[in-house]
Amino acid sequence: MLRICLARRGADDRKNFKDVKGGLPRVSFREEMAGELKTSRTTIWKGIKSLQKSGYTVEGSPRLGYRLLQIPDLLYPAELSEGLQTEIIAKSPALIHHFLQVDSTNNRLKLLAEEGAPEGTVVVAEEQTSGKGRLGRSWVSPRGKGIWFSILFRPSKPLEDISVFTLLIAVAVARAIKKKLPQIDAGIKWPNDILIQGRKVCGILTELKAEADRLHYLITGIGLNFNSVRADFPPELQKTATSIFLENNGHPLSRKEMAGQILREMDSIYRKYLNNETEEILSLWKAHNITLGKKITIKSLRESFTGKAVDIDRYGALIIAGPGGDKRRFVAGEIIS
Ligand code: BTN
Repeated sequence: MLRICLARRGADDRKNFKDVKGGLPRVSFREEMAGELKTSRTTIWKGIKSLQKSGYTVEGSPRLGYRLLQIPDLLYPAELSEGLQTEIIAKSPALIHHFLQVDSTNNRLKLLAEEGAPEGTVVVAEEQTSGKGRLGRSWVSPRGKGIWFSILFRPSKPLEDISVFTLLIAVAVARAIKKKLPQIDAGIKWPNDILIQGRKVCGILTELKAEADRLHYLITGIGLNFNSVRADFPPELQKTATSIFLENNGHPLSRKEMAGQILREMDSIYRKYLNNETEEILSLWKAHNITLGKKITIKSLRESFTGKAVDIDRYGALIIAGPGGDKRRFVAGEIIS
């Protein structure tokens, strides 16, 4: 609240005092802010201290007031929710849970889901100590280097519609990257890896709780390598992984803006999903995919199969034409080459 008050007053004063140099203008006297926020001067002072402890640079002068100089690139709820205008996902800051460190945002969100957290709840962390990847792998998630977050969904849908759901998440991430960095070609490798120039920049892990044919909830975890440099990846991934920073020729970008764009895209495509606009989602996926039309080898639980990826069906399954023209359908698996 205090942070919003400082920023708003900064913006108002910028309009009035165009000649202020360096940072946001000095705007807020403790008394004035205390009045506006209906609290005491001591509470304002404590709030300022706590903002500073959280990484905000606030300059204070007993005579002139406070000035917000710098906002940290941390994914705090107040920052992430600013200007989001989503209808379901993170529709209020209270739905965003931020942690400096967690084992895994998926695990943490699962605890909240079990306690009855509403659809659209988001857990975001600066660092994960046991980030989880697909197929039981781990996901390297160093502090501040990526966008590591998970979102809770509670759609009233039959279990057979879940595969399309996993596709829509990848579409949202690919679209967000395209919007923020139009010059970068981010493509979806079936089912939902995001690659740039053949290297993986983002992985998506969807976990669910269901019984018989009733879905309780879905948790989708997104790991987008953002600020990582080559040395941040383990040696075995250095040739196959990349980050937004690396692909943007070493020019830094705001994590908050990218995370916000992903949430916005996801909110909009998820609403299509709820409206049964499956065809539209499949065609968006196809527009961003880099798998169809290629000769690939897929490894499923039972076998490896090589052929040409020709289509995906309405359930998101991959259709592969074998050397003899015979078509095979894969609902799960990993494309290994
Ligand atoms: C993959 O293997 O491609 C999926 C990686 C998913 C990683 C993300 S990071 C945020 C969320 N929390 C986790 O523990 N995993 C997912």
